[in-house]
Amino acid sequence: PARADWLRRLPKTELHLHIEGTLEPELMFALAQRNGVTLPYPDVDALRAAYDFHNLQSFLDLYYAGAGVLLTEADFYDLTWAYLERAHADRVVHVEIFFDPQTHTERGVPFETALAGIRRALVDGEAKLGIGFRLILCFLRHLSEDAGFAALEQALPYLDRIDGVGLDSSEHGHPPEKFERLFARCKQLGLARVAHAGEEGPADYVWQAIRLLDVARIDHGVRALEDDTLVAYLAEHRIPLTVCPLSNIKLRVFDTLADHPLRTLLERGLVATVNSDDPAYFGGYVGENWQACADALDLTRAELVQLAKNGIEASWMDDAAKARWY
Ligand code: ADE
Ligand code: ZN
Repeated sequence: PARADWLRRLPKTELHLHIEGTLEPELMFALAQRNGVTLPYPDVDALRAAYDFHNLQSFLDLYYAGAGVLLTEADFYDLTWAYLERAHADRVVHVEIFFDPQTHTERGVPFETALAGIRRALVDGEAKLGIGFRLILCFLRHLSEDAGFAALEQALPYLDRIDGVGLDSSEHGHPPEKFERLFARCKQLGLARVAHAGEEGPADYVWQAIRLLDVARIDHGVRALEDDTLVAYLAEHRIPLTVCPLSNIKLRVFDTLADHPLRTLLERGLVATVNSDDPAYFGGYVGENWQACADALDLTRAELVQLAKNGIEASWMDDAAKARWY
């Protein structure tokens, strides 16, 4: 219908996307074959059938295992290019993507191999598809502070190709305060900062990300709604939340999309945005996240336009690029 067409054509941003989470089962098997890696599943259907998650950790276990097929620069290029083509089909005009270098360096894949393949695809995506981009290095919070400093050390020669740092992986038991010194160092180096907080973890982790890590955005942040003072603070300071609706359902943060607080976040004056997180695992790219929310929550065109504008405001595109889309 008309609304679906209109929504498909609405210019969108994607600000919360793990490139390793765009690895479709078909590509995983193709790369496994290309690289002589054996997967613990007989075929694509058996692998897809295993995507039945009950929380964040049950997903992460599969996500890290799947990333094991990524070995060469070409693998990272092909992965990123496939994502950009999907994003382009959803009229995504700007992406800020995460990559998890520790997932690769721990397996002996050099930092620069992952970086070079991802960057080369992003540069091609800008030239051929008109998709602007930023690249964000995520530290794995289940690993130690020392491991985070080691990852930063490896990134130092390439900081001109990295726009910011983030914090992801298992949230419970790994509060932002664990990485206060690492993020202070990143700030000194001129890196913008974001962090996953308030996905499964409590509102207090969102406070910690703001106060101790000095983040520009909160990734997820849906549990901020449990703290009215925090909601007021986020609204007053216009600290965006990169919300991932289908992810939240797949990882059982909420039972159904009809229970998702996306509209409430808007009503409370928050800079909420719509993103796909790990679309190959959660059953939808950004376009499907928008359409599913529009349907389940019966969002108005005004609400959908607000979400799109929030994505522009929350992004790190330069002011001239922002002005193009407002
Ligand atoms: N890594 C990939 N996706 C993630 C998510 N939704 N939360 C935390 N870490 C992640
Ligand atoms: Zn995420």
